[in-house]
Amino acid sequence: MPYIDFRHLSDEDLASIVVYLRSLLPVKNPLAASQIDFPDKYLIRSVPQPLEEPVDPPDTSTPAKRGEYLVEVAACEACHTPQARSHAMPGMDFAGGVILEGPWGRMASANITPDASGIVYYDEALFIQAMRTGWVRARRLNQIMPWKAFAAMTDEDLNAVFAYLKTLKPVRHRSTTPRHPLLASSAKPRTAWAPKTVPPTNQKRHS
Ligand code: HEC
Repeated sequence: MPYIDFRHLSDEDLASIVVYLRSLLPVKNPLAASQIDFPDKYLIRSVPQPLEEPVDPPDTSTPAKRGEYLVEVAACEACHTPQARSHAMPGMDFAGGVILEGPWGRMASANITPDASGIVYYDEALFIQAMRTGWVRARRLNQIMPWKAFAAMTDEDLNAVFAYLKTLKPVRHRSTTPRHPLLASSAKPRTAWAPKTVPPTNQKRHS
């Protein structure tokens, strides 16, 4: 649950979300309590920080600034910035390689910085195509990239997001996964960093 990104939501935007949620019809669907694996269940305890001040409306004076806000609250970083010990890896903002495993297969997220190993070749039209259709020219994006959730964003918003992505520091990081969906569940993505689960060092103390 990427609450670290959502804490940037302005008080006004957050209040609008609350109003919308209250308009939904109640659904009875009791769910089992979720479990968080070791060591993450201890590591994440230090992550939540209290918000002690109001969050003002964002600076939307330029498309890139508006885009920065949209990227924060759309939680792009949650999937596109690799983490170590539940914190973003320094210098790896939006460089991809986060392993996402589930019914969609085993995928590494893409590098979306303006580097040759990222999306420097994108223009606005290609970005809008990717975000609205899930296709990058003839290549289909895996469903775990939630383009359907972003497809209804206006042209102005998507162009603002793209304007912001273009201002990112280019990071050289090749994050490749098999492009064929049938291969995605069996092949290992080649990434420059290891997946986040490191086996506990179980060293016994001899007394
Ligand atoms: C739930 C995880 C998730 C979130 C959230 C997410 N992405 Fe992605 N994204 C992925 C994955 C995984 C891929 C790689 C898909 C593939 O290669 O088939 C991807 C691919 C992409 C691509 C295609 C890059 C290429 O290879 O050409 C773009 C562009 C992109 N994401 C932009 C964004 C933006 C902008 C946001 C926020 C508005 C975002 N993503 C949020 C998981 C995510």
